[in-house]
Amino acid sequence: MNDALGEAGLWESRYQSGEDLFGAKPNAFFLEALQARPPGRLLLPGEGEGRNALAALRLGWEVCAFDLSPTARDRARIRAEALGKTLSYELGALPELPEAVPFSEPFDLIAVIFVHLPAAVRRAAHQALAARLAPGGTLLIQSFAPKQAANPSMGPNSTARLASPGTLARDCRGLEVLRAQEREVVLDEGPLHTGPASVVEFLAQRPR
Ligand SMILES: C[S@@+](CC[C@H](N)C(=O)[O-])C[C@H]1O[C@@H](n2cnc3c(N)ncnc32)[C@H](O)[C@@H]1O
Repeated sequence: MNDALGEAGLWESRYQSGEDLFGAKPNAFFLEALQARPPGRLLLPGEGEGRNALAALRLGWEVCAFDLSPTARDRARIRAEALGKTLSYELGALPELPEAVPFSEPFDLIAVIFVHLPAAVRRAAHQALAARLAPGGTLLIQSFAPKQAANPSMGPNSTARLASPGTLARDCRGLEVLRAQEREVVLDEGPLHTGPASVVEFLAQRPR
């Protein structure tokens, strides 16, 4: 099981130390997937300060999100309110999902953006998320690739929290893998995610 309490304290102090740690714009891989689909129900685990949720709300999606950090949650809620949109954002720790009602209905898209968990938690989390997909729904994962551990500029510095595309595909048995690839990109996502990086892009669909 994840040491979620220790993780929560770490992330909370990071968010208390500054704002827009991962920028205000949505993640590019996520935005591309969002724009390619008609609006539906979206779940964002580990959503941080709400940059991805706000982009989806603007495009007409119904959005549920959760994270370990109350400061990040409060910022996201205030930003959604300023847009005049409803955002269901709870505290929660993967591999569990919040128990609030909107989280128990199936999702058309679930997007896990740069949430790097210990292997056993990650596998359980991906299985739990796959089970929440509606028929035809998509699980999207954007994460750092294992070789990013050697690049101290950003991301976890240990491969223990970094999964290859093949590992993600094995986590998500029962889903049809649409894309599972490593890419070299240049991130422009706020003070903690800026510059060249090795990332994994993963998309898998629940059969209809
Ligand atoms: C690198 S940040 C990315 C935040 C957001 N997804 C984004 O792209 O802006 C990782 C986030 O995952 C959250 N997190 C870490 N472990 C988690 C867990 N077990 N359950 C839920 N959220 C978690 C952290 O609190 C943090 O907000």
